[in-house]
Amino acid sequence: MSGWTREFALIHGVFLVASETGPRSLARAGGAIELPAFGGREDAVVRALGGGFVSEAHLCALVAADERTALRHLVTKLHREGWSRVRVSRGGAPAYSVEPYPAAADDNRGAPVPRSAQLSRHAHLRRDGDDLVVESPRARARLRLHDPALVAAITRPVDPPGRDAPPWMTADLVSAGLADHADGADGADGAELSPHEEWFHARSHLGAPTTTTPPPLRRAPMGRPVPLPVPAPVPEWGLSTALNQRRSVREHDDDHPITAAALIALLSHAVGVREEFAVDGVDLARRPYPSGGALHELEFFPVVGRAADLAPGAYRFDPFGPGLEAVAPEGAAQRRVLRAAATAMGAPRPQVLLVCTARVDRIAWRYPDLAYSLVLRHVGAAQQTLYLVATAMGLAPCALGGGDRRAFAELTGTDPLREPAVGEFAIGSRKGATWGC
Ligand SMILES: Cc1cc2nc3c(=O)[nH]c(=O)nc-3n(C[C@H](O)[C@H](O)[C@H](O)COP(=O)(O)O)c2cc1C
Repeated sequence: MSGWTREFALIHGVFLVASETGPRSLARAGGAIELPAFGGREDAVVRALGGGFVSEAHLCALVAADERTALRHLVTKLHREGWSRVRVSRGGAPAYSVEPYPAAADDNRGAPVPRSAQLSRHAHLRRDGDDLVVESPRARARLRLHDPALVAAITRPVDPPGRDAPPWMTADLVSAGLADHADGADGADGAELSPHEEWFHARSHLGAPTTTTPPPLRRAPMGRPVPLPVPAPVPEWGLSTALNQRRSVREHDDDHPITAAALIALLSHAVGVREEFAVDGVDLARRPYPSGGALHELEFFPVVGRAADLAPGAYRFDPFGPGLEAVAPEGAAQRRVLRAAATAMGAPRPQVLLVCTARVDRIAWRYPDLAYSLVLRHVGAAQQTLYLVATAMGLAPCALGGGDRRAFAELTGTDPLREPAVGEFAIGSRKGATWGC
């Protein structure tokens, strides 16, 4: 084995279940493993495994000679089924370790190691402190490389590994779910989620809230308030009429462009704040569309190209006023934003593009792992509400799949990482309509 050694340590959250009559077992959330009787030495074995990394030889020295085979089987089982971390070293220097995920499925562990494996197309490598970490949303464990020279060995794992590679590496990569059979199907045929989507999907589950003070409900103002008429009421349409008549309309009536009164009515009826309240000292709100935790992290920026009584440029909607703040005048960036919207619609430039941003800190404070997936769901809820109100108002609404988000950040000065644009929605007057234009 050219000086390679392997040590094992129980993962956190494993405990010994004592029994006066039957055999003892190791337990963790969701499972248990029966312990062989090591002549009353079970405690010593479990204490050694639970106290940090120990070698199989060290563990074997704790039990009688005729119990060592059973002990080796136990160590292998704990490793295969994700109950132990493993550290592989050479000459006392750690090379890599295997760190099981707590809730990993146990399928496929112990499957035969292929002679030639390949790194999963879902795996990625990143730095973590002084180590490199190989992870995949499909994996049962991650590999922590303490020795960066091993990167070459993980990209083309073979069994048996090359003379200088750690002897267990291919088996560890395969059993962790980080590598698969070199000629096996790897899902690259477009019928599965792509790697970045699968990462997002796997990491979009509920995370623990942070304990810091929540970012405020109200965003800081960005510009001077624009004097506006009081928003008109939405015509009293039946819900089913609005639902049945809703459609995407890409053509605007540029002879009668949208008015400021119609724009502010649409925004305040669809996405304006109805009520503010506090729970456990956290300021929350109610708007016509729902929001996880009532946190309401979305902001709406009308980028105006042509309106009857609003100068072209970028505005921010104040959902509390309700009102509009003038953020930026027309110019090259504003034209790029509107041109990208026109391209997405396959139509002339929209009179107004509503760009929706998300204040990431506001939502990530309570839902750190879930934040981005919640944001996208909120955008969908807000867009459907905008569609229905715009339909009832006789306006021309159309959701867009994307836009020139760099030009938008340039235009408004918003930080694309802290407050990214996450949704675009074109709006304008509708030919032949009698309300809102
Ligand atoms: C999230 C989302 C993204 C969309 N992106 C675009 C787009 O980029 N360009 C476009 O012309 N329409 C876009 N649409 C509108 C759809 O094409 C439209 O909803 C679909 O054709 C069905 O027509 P309807 O809305 O009239 O029922 C989008 C709709 C949604 C919900």
